[in-house]
Amino acid sequence: MEEFPSLYDLTYADYQEDIPFWIDLIGRTEVLELGVGTGRVALPLAVAGAGVTGLDHSLQMIRSARNKMTQAGSRINLVYSDLTRLPFSEGSFASVICPFSTINYVTDLAALRRAFSEARRVLRKGGLFAFEALSWHTYDRWLNNDGLQHVVDRVGKAPGEPIDITYSYQFDAAHQIATQERLYRVTVADGVRKEYLIHWRNRFAFRAEYLLLLEDSRFAIELEAGDYQGSTYSHDAEAYIVVCRAV
Ligand SMILES: C[S@@+](CC[C@H](N)C(=O)[O-])C[C@H]1O[C@@H](n2cnc3c(N)ncnc32)[C@H](O)[C@@H]1O
Repeated sequence: MEEFPSLYDLTYADYQEDIPFWIDLIGRTEVLELGVGTGRVALPLAVAGAGVTGLDHSLQMIRSARNKMTQAGSRINLVYSDLTRLPFSEGSFASVICPFSTINYVTDLAALRRAFSEARRVLRKGGLFAFEALSWHTYDRWLNNDGLQHVVDRVGKAPGEPIDITYSYQFDAAHQIATQERLYRVTVADGVRKEYLIHWRNRFAFRAEYLLLLEDSRFAIELEAGDYQGSTYSHDAEAYIVVCRAV
């Protein structure tokens, strides 16, 4: 998906449900967003007065975010790097966020440990770290499959600009890794169709894994929520949202 920022935006740019949560949480502080993507969250945060640094390991995503920032006349510091190796010195930020399940792209436990300890290192004491992870409940169709499953979804936007997405899923329960292949068929102009095959790999961590690793990295949990309205996290939650403090 990172190779095709325009497809990312066709699929997700209109998703806004989490934006008020991030704006309320961050306010006008200096924030680092891990996995900034095309700036879906970074841009409204900057408009609301936060000092935003966005980091991503995809040059294509960074370029797309930069174009949007320029068009919007916003200033955001964009950095090309991996979220498990942050090119910042200790205590550089008041907050670090990792929205929209970017944490699930970290597919081994050692890397997840590094990601949390890096977030802690670049935070000032008392700083805020928050992320949203995929819930096991909402993604049961990724997880409950007999090896390979095919679903076709049509998520057309403007008339004449439909996207068909054919998903195939495979879940490796031993390693908690869901792989997906998504075949996007997009009508670009005058009925011309283009096809893109995109491979995804996400690890579903358990709550206890997150909590143990966060504690190891010297974070104290402030909130665990199951949605952006702050509902208690439970087995059927839409998401797993964690807010913690650097101690
Ligand atoms: C689901 S998108 C989220 C984008 C944006 N935060 C949003 O909410 O729309 C995940 C982003 O994280 C980036 N990403 C995934 N793994 C990463 C890693 N290890 N280091 C840095 N960026 C990563 C991807 O390139 C992609 O842009």
